[in-house]
Amino acid sequence: MKTRLCTAACSALVFAALCIAQSFRPEIPKVWDDEAVHNFELPLAHRDRSPRHMSSAEYYALKVRPIYRTYPMYAPGREPAGYIESLKQKEPEIVFDPSKLKTKADWIAAGKLVFESEPLMFPLPEKGPFFTSPLPPDKDGVLPPFIPGNRYIIRKKGVLEVGINACAGCHTRVMPDGSLLPGAQGVVDFVNSEADLRRAAAMSPEALKRRQEMAWILYGAPWILSKEKFLASLTKDEMLRQLAVERPGVIGRQGTSASHPPHIPSLIGIKDIRYLDSTGFARHRSIADLARYAVTNQGLDTLAHYGDFQPSPASTPFSSEPGTRYSDEQLYALALYIYSLEPPTNPNKMDARARRGQRIFAQQGCIGCHTPPLYTNNMLTPALGFTIPDDLRKTDAILDVSVGTDPTLAMTTRRGTGFYKVPSLRGVWYRNAFGHGGWVDTLEDWLDPARLNDDFLPSGPGHRKGAIKGHEFGLKLAPADKEALIAFLKTL
Ligand code: HEC
Ligand code: HEC
Repeated sequence: MKTRLCTAACSALVFAALCIAQSFRPEIPKVWDDEAVHNFELPLAHRDRSPRHMSSAEYYALKVRPIYRTYPMYAPGREPAGYIESLKQKEPEIVFDPSKLKTKADWIAAGKLVFESEPLMFPLPEKGPFFTSPLPPDKDGVLPPFIPGNRYIIRKKGVLEVGINACAGCHTRVMPDGSLLPGAQGVVDFVNSEADLRRAAAMSPEALKRRQEMAWILYGAPWILSKEKFLASLTKDEMLRQLAVERPGVIGRQGTSASHPPHIPSLIGIKDIRYLDSTGFARHRSIADLARYAVTNQGLDTLAHYGDFQPSPASTPFSSEPGTRYSDEQLYALALYIYSLEPPTNPNKMDARARRGQRIFAQQGCIGCHTPPLYTNNMLTPALGFTIPDDLRKTDAILDVSVGTDPTLAMTTRRGTGFYKVPSLRGVWYRNAFGHGGWVDTLEDWLDPARLNDDFLPSGPGHRKGAIKGHEFGLKLAPADKEALIAFLKTL
């Protein structure tokens, strides 16, 4: 009897230990907390225009947007017989269900669903896919799932929809071997073909007007340029010029600039990065701040007040269900997923040449800003012409040296804090679009002194001639030293 009791007690203990190992008690932060929201963003360079977001009470009164199961889309002519009919028989299915999540791995997997969910949905057009896919289908004819519009969504039985604006759409990289790297700098091919440009050139006056109004919602900053002047400057020719220089890895996120769009950053390793966005617009103090960033960037920023200006007063243009939000559980899972992303194995080895490059990196002073192990000192630097406000010197990590790059994004936009952060150099071997504007696609071009000249034409698609100013570090190196430095950078 005694032994049996002991065995029972022991196995209970073992069971409890196993449970502790397996169960994961997430501490879901309250994302839209008034106090935390108030000081999570840096003030703008035009301080009285810093965004004021909706209150916690208003935010939590919004309805939570469920995340539905989605289904693969096939290239035209590759669909199995009866596929669409079978989809039309399916009931909508909500796939994000926090009550079913037990382990940390469960939460991370659920976060991936949030990362891939498209908030802005459209009815499926009668004929063919919604967008022309810039990438080929796989061997079974399935279109790349992360490209906007490439999955069927069922919110209502019998109605197929497609969607856009998932995090995955911009933050997934197609590697040279065709594999997908989630979280890395996206390369969704926004480069427009000749046919796209011809279609745009033929747009009707009404279509032009619609595009201009949308551009005002996305980029309007009336303290810089009145709406009237902004619309007048965005002629059809200017729009066509902007379309022609769209290139992989660069996209005009709302609140930035149509004429000076930023590069898409890699989210791999973001846990250690203190400021988010090129302009260091959002402070990243905790997992809750990353969640807050996701909220503002999926459209809440277009509902904010910038002084007396509200870009899109009625509803955000980024959700087909106005008045909805993420749940705090969805956001926690999303952030946990982003934190879990790992870089791919680096094929570039630390050989003798790279070690020489490492010494040059130190000698040239790169190390003061791109400090190992993160290869950033996690500090902000003032843009050309910006005077650092005294109060920020006390609260933030600021290096009082301007690297002298183009100040447009930092000084004249809704994310314009007056600063550029020092970016991490980790993973430059699998990235392109360097500098906050993604001005060059190779480290060779970045370190080429000819880029300071007006007739410089960077290599790669979508570029046009023009000087790329600032950040003159390492430009004077002898060719062999430059090669060694680049070899080193590619090991990071
Ligand atoms: C339409 C493309 C697009 C979509 C969709 C998108 N992003 Fe981004 N993301 C960008 C661009 C462009 C930037 C850089 C903005 C800047 O520097 O001003 C960025 C910046 C970020 C950053 C800052 C990283 C850093 O190192 O500074 C984070 C974090 C991020 N995005 C997460 C997300 C999440 C989470 C989602 C989904 C909720 C998402 N993004 C959706 C394009 C996109
Ligand atoms: C005074 C600080 C400072 C020093 C010194 C410095 N950098 Fe930078 N670096 C920056 C800042 C700030 C940026 C972003 C500038 C921008 O985008 O406007 C940057 C951007 C870069 C980028 C582009 C990264 C990306 O993700 O787009 C590379 C590559 C780079 N630096 C390499 C170097 C090398 C190599 C050296 C030394 C030869 C060096 N830097 C010296 C501050 C510095």
